[in-house]
Amino acid sequence: MTLTRDTAPAQDAVPAFDVAEFLAWGSDLHDQGRYEDAARAYRLILGVDRHNQEALLGHNRAVRHAVPRWHWEMLHDEERAERYDHAIRRAVTANPDALVLDIGAGSGLLAMMAARAGARGVVACEGQPSVAETAVEVVRTAGYDDTVRVVPKMSTRMTVPGDLPRRADLLVTEIVDCGLLGEGILGTIAHAREHLLAPDATIMPYRARVYAQLVESVPLHRKNHVGKLHGFDLAPFNRLSTLEYFDSRLHRHEHRTLSEPLRVFDFDFRTADASPQRTELRVRPTSAGRLHAIAFWFEMDLVPGVTLTNAPGVESHWKQAIQCLPVPPLVQPGDPVAVTALHDGRHVRFEVAPAEETA
Ligand SMILES: C[S@@+](CC[C@H](N)C(=O)[O-])C[C@H]1O[C@@H](n2cnc3c(N)ncnc32)[C@H](O)[C@@H]1O
Repeated sequence: MTLTRDTAPAQDAVPAFDVAEFLAWGSDLHDQGRYEDAARAYRLILGVDRHNQEALLGHNRAVRHAVPRWHWEMLHDEERAERYDHAIRRAVTANPDALVLDIGAGSGLLAMMAARAGARGVVACEGQPSVAETAVEVVRTAGYDDTVRVVPKMSTRMTVPGDLPRRADLLVTEIVDCGLLGEGILGTIAHAREHLLAPDATIMPYRARVYAQLVESVPLHRKNHVGKLHGFDLAPFNRLSTLEYFDSRLHRHEHRTLSEPLRVFDFDFRTADASPQRTELRVRPTSAGRLHAIAFWFEMDLVPGVTLTNAPGVESHWKQAIQCLPVPPLVQPGDPVAVTALHDGRHVRFEVAPAEETA
């Protein structure tokens, strides 16, 4: 019997196989933007013909879309790794019998750190199938597969005892973006507290703060806005510019800070949920200038005394979060600026009242 994509069994190894049809299927799925499904289709081919060049390339193209490229930069961020390692050692040494839950395993790095520190049981969940599959291999290759079990699921779909033998005693997670909340840490930890963690579980990170600073910077503003260029008015293109934030390194762009850093949010992950918040501030500019952008960053406490930050000047892979203002107002030291910091549980953004209202 020739196997077609409709009759393909879940297993990769199959008896007879219409490779051309599966290649076309993979390509179709890719074109539909279903990159994880495309990768799976190509893996079926590679299961029977591991040298199939078209399938290898197709798989790699699909994975390139599905898996963000920041994983590598993040894994090379030594400060991030060292501080997590230090904090994990401290938490595991305090209770080696703790069942550890790593939410968002990625390569399995933090889960393996917990195992290396002496944890006897670690469950590491990863919501992206290609990443989860790779984590299984990394953990096996490193020889930690007797301690670390990778669950290829979003934590919010996990159950006790289905995926975790019991509620975990130590949560280790690093699901933060440059603006802290963008990977859903608030809702994810709140869900874990309710469904996956023991009542007195240690939560790492346990606190975080977000800071913001007013910035004048033509080069940063240019990353998100155009006007008259090459003899044309390209301004309508700004309809596509980013309304919220993007990541960039403040110190690599010519800029002047127009205020002190301001603390805008303070989260305690042991109690916080993903409810929206707003903080209203009257900011006194420290010098006159054009307010092109709000730069913001976080400080995140892993265990007491061990903090990670992506503040300006720190060479973290997160860089800083930059929100450009579409129409940058002029600000003066004498005139406080009304700045509102908002989040809806996942997206941080800022509103700046028009200059005349802030006088
Ligand atoms: C920033 S990476 C960190 C990876 C790894 N923990 C490390 O520190 O090297 C976050 C990973 O978490 C995964 N992820 C995010 N939220 C998740 C959730 N709620 N459940 C499972 N995986 C999640 C993402 O797919 C991504 O691979």
